[in-house]
Amino acid sequence: MKKKTDQKALTTKLLAWYDENQRILPWRIQPTPYAVWVSEIMLQQTRIEAVIPYYERFMNELPTLVDLAQCEDDRLMKLWEGLGYYHRVRNMKRCAIECMETYHGNLPADVTALRKLPGIGEYTAGAIGSIAYDLAVCAIDGNVLRVFSRILCSDADISLTATKKQFHSIIREYLPRRSGAFNQALMELGERICIPNGVPHCAECPIHAECLAYQNGCQLLLPVNNKKKTRTLEEHTVLILICDQRVHLIKRPKSGLLADLYQFDFLDGFCDEAKLREYAQTYGEVQSLVPLPDTHHIFTHKEWHMHGWLAVCKMKQQRGLWANRTELAHTYAIASAFAKYKEICFAYLAGGCGNESTTL
Ligand code: ADE
Repeated sequence: MKKKTDQKALTTKLLAWYDENQRILPWRIQPTPYAVWVSEIMLQQTRIEAVIPYYERFMNELPTLVDLAQCEDDRLMKLWEGLGYYHRVRNMKRCAIECMETYHGNLPADVTALRKLPGIGEYTAGAIGSIAYDLAVCAIDGNVLRVFSRILCSDADISLTATKKQFHSIIREYLPRRSGAFNQALMELGERICIPNGVPHCAECPIHAECLAYQNGCQLLLPVNNKKKTRTLEEHTVLILICDQRVHLIKRPKSGLLADLYQFDFLDGFCDEAKLREYAQTYGEVQSLVPLPDTHHIFTHKEWHMHGWLAVCKMKQQRGLWANRTELAHTYAIASAFAKYKEICFAYLAGGCGNESTTL
């Protein structure tokens, strides 16, 4: 680090930029603790633009923490369908129940108490504390670490806990009275200007004069992040099994990956046609069996490569869960890993075969 940055100038310029340029987002209109909490958990999983429709639907269906605490599990999973990381919404329900029992149905206005609740870590507690309750706390996510590693021209590895702690104590020194605006301004700057992949838009940055990396011309080399992402590859076969205009669904186990969500028949490895025919035969006489496009899905620690098939059977026995098109759309939450196959299944059921058991 060659020179020191001017802290006061940086904070003032950043807040002025934020006041002028912040995006109008539904959770910013009335940043209640519940609204901030829901939005922040959703934003940990995907981009802002993608979150908006999920957020609006969630808040329409469950406008208060009490509604969330009382929401039935399948309905909750359906509301979260497509967002991934389903343990997060299960934790939110646990957290809402605990807030009902301990804090009269409110999220506590205290960062230490927030951190003890299910699913609330340091970042989320800082975001709720600063944005909804105006507490003087930081909310440091990956964007903020990147922005500050450039501002400070620091080559410390941001994947290390020691670096995060060090950055935390530095950023705390910058925190102005408007802590919520400051935290959000840093995040927004990281998302729109000081971007992670590709060239950052330094010419448009309100604080480039205060950025040591910009002054040294090394912004593209920062941050240093040595965390290695190792993923295991898995091969699977997805079989959409249709009988009488209904699709066979299976509920995944209560714990582990995609717990409690629904899926089509799912077999380990890439199965050949003969094996699938034999499998489908156990449900009924196979009338057709056709291959579907391959898909893949990336999780944090594994990657699924999937071959898909669609089998139409004449039902021999009614065992298991068979969903019609309406139920597929509105009742059962299908994991996003199967989104393409869900679309195909939906199109098939919509095409309809004029079967008597289709109730739409
Ligand atoms: N990313 C995550 N939370 C955010 C927020 N409150 N404002 C801007 N970007 C964000």
